[in-house]
Amino acid sequence: MNYLVTGSAGFIGFHVCNYLCQKYKKSKIIGVDNINNFYSIKLKKKRLQQLKKFKNFQFNKIDLTNKNKLEKVFKKNKIKTVIHLAAQAGVRESLKMPDSYFKSNFIGFLNIISLSNNNKVKKFIFASSSSVYGDKKKFPLLENIKINPKNIYSASKKINEDIAKDFSHISKMKILGLRFFTIYGIHGRPDMFIFKFLNSLFNKKKFYLFNKGNHHRDYTHIDDVVKIILGLIKKNIKDNFYIFNVCSKKTVPINKLVKLISDKVKTKPLLIYRKRNKIEVLKTHGDNRKILKFLNLKIEKKIFIELPKIIDWYKKNRIWQIKN
Ligand SMILES: NC(=O)c1ccc[n+]([C@@H]2O[C@H](COP(=O)([O-])OP(=O)(O)OC[C@H]3O[C@@H](n4cnc5c(N)ncnc54)[C@H](O)[C@@H]3O)[C@@H](O)[C@H]2O)c1
Repeated sequence: MNYLVTGSAGFIGFHVCNYLCQKYKKSKIIGVDNINNFYSIKLKKKRLQQLKKFKNFQFNKIDLTNKNKLEKVFKKNKIKTVIHLAAQAGVRESLKMPDSYFKSNFIGFLNIISLSNNNKVKKFIFASSSSVYGDKKKFPLLENIKINPKNIYSASKKINEDIAKDFSHISKMKILGLRFFTIYGIHGRPDMFIFKFLNSLFNKKKFYLFNKGNHHRDYTHIDDVVKIILGLIKKNIKDNFYIFNVCSKKTVPINKLVKLISDKVKTKPLLIYRKRNKIEVLKTHGDNRKILKFLNLKIEKKIFIELPKIIDWYKKNRIWQIKN
């Protein structure tokens, strides 16, 4: 039984592959990524270097919009499970480079889901995002409330969910969409708050803080995410289509993280205050009872305990974070 992981050079894809390679030694773990330059390519290559040490890992540098090349991967390998994590991520950039979101998140998604269906994949797990909810007043957010994306990135994730639901009516695949809430951990993304802020502190650069850091995020540790994905891979699934929140059900104000990280690093940040960025939601705080009950799991990691370990990792690896 072989696994295809798209976005394998990315943050979540790397951790998923790393785990699968160790857990399923007799299976092939096939990674696909276009290694784009959205953030440091050095970091992506560093992650791949680590994965290539596993004998059962195979990497293919392919853009998801290249359906022919992607199809060859399916024809060459008997793939039973697809974990689709490749996407143009990031909310702020989605207005600056909408084409990239259209290509990767729309065309790319259609290619991978239709090839999975045509090649008799059994399970198709894909990344959606908490951003599909938009601004809400009542928390924690449940999967069945009305969603209201407010930028191109989150709209692309909503479209993925819609397309996936459509496929589930005609396909034998079990299709599972995961609404990730701010995932953090080592090897994390330099464009996201924790590493972006660390980069500004260590390089003594200005940090633009929107809305005085008065927005909240439901930080979810990568180890909990990997555990959930593994649980879904193993589980015998009844229905054809599911949407799950993947979150810690705890929300943290960004200004609290600003203080905590600056204190830990013992450096005063060079904060430049900016008014609220309207395309970003004010608060994310998800309800995770559906997925935890489904898999009989618990969320184990707490951000305030994990942060010092991440800062230590950053100190040893910060060279990889800098954009080439
Ligand atoms: N990290 C988070 O907090 C978070 C939150 C919500 C949703 N998500 C979603 O989870 C998934 C993984 O996120 P991540 O944080 O690992 O992001 P990431 O940017 O680190 O990883 C995505 C990878 O996909 C690759 N990619 C992009 N477009 C591609 C294309 N057209 N063809 C092939 N490869 C392509 C990139 O090179 C990158 O390595 C994404 O779908 C993202 O939208 C992440």
